[in-house]
Amino acid sequence: MPEPISPRDRLIVALDMASTDEAERLIARIGDAASFYKIGYRLGYAGGLALAERLVRDGHKVFLDLKLHDIGNTVEEGVQSLAGIGATFLTVHAYPQTMRAAAAGRDKAGTGLKILGVTVLTSYDDADAREAGYASSVADLVAARAAAAGAIGIDGIVCSAAEAPQVRAILGPDRLIVTPGIRPAGAEIGDQKRVVTPAEAMRAGVDHVVVGRPITGAADPRDVARRIVDEMAAAL
Ligand code: C5P
Repeated sequence: MPEPISPRDRLIVALDMASTDEAERLIARIGDAASFYKIGYRLGYAGGLALAERLVRDGHKVFLDLKLHDIGNTVEEGVQSLAGIGATFLTVHAYPQTMRAAAAGRDKAGTGLKILGVTVLTSYDDADAREAGYASSVADLVAARAAAAGAIGIDGIVCSAAEAPQVRAILGPDRLIVTPGIRPAGAEIGDQKRVVTPAEAMRAGVDHVVVGRPITGAADPRDVARRIVDEMAAAL
């Protein structure tokens, strides 16, 4: 069985802001209520990788949500460079060739970086998949890519809580499931179409929840982060 994860380490706060100054102000306000931060395209391309190094140095965990996808050699070398930052998670699109290359880069770097596969973006429905040239439904693509991720030795999958039970059945207990689209009861849902609460995510077998605007836009981000952690602790 995998190592138990503390409720606080299960919360990943998405730093979807435009500047590292803004991100650092938020992190200071959250204090010890959270320990894990996600950096995506917006902040990553605006000084976020240097911020990631500072966060790791300060004892935080970092999720680099850069969703890599390129020829194998480029992915493998990119993963090796990113591994030097000391991040905990890095996303790649769950194409078998890309996942194999990412796993090779991870193993060569040996820093403990874990690779997460993004099966099918949650903004895609069956019509979008058809338009992109796929003959399979989104559900079938998710299942096929999760199975490939497991066989290749990817460390986990990013998926919706709705997909988590299906993905867990494919991956078994030893891989991680990381889920965005989380809203504490009563929060604005924003542009997320299907949302679940932190407690529901735990019951669906999710290991880590990614929460952005309910924390980053809150009057008291520390309090919201605390409540989410407490809600997960109670559900476990
Ligand atoms: O603000 P919110 O809680 O909706 O932020 C969710 C975070 O998770 C954002 O960084 C978003 O890019 C990311 N994400 C998502 N859905 C996915 C994959 C990532 O919302 N399928």
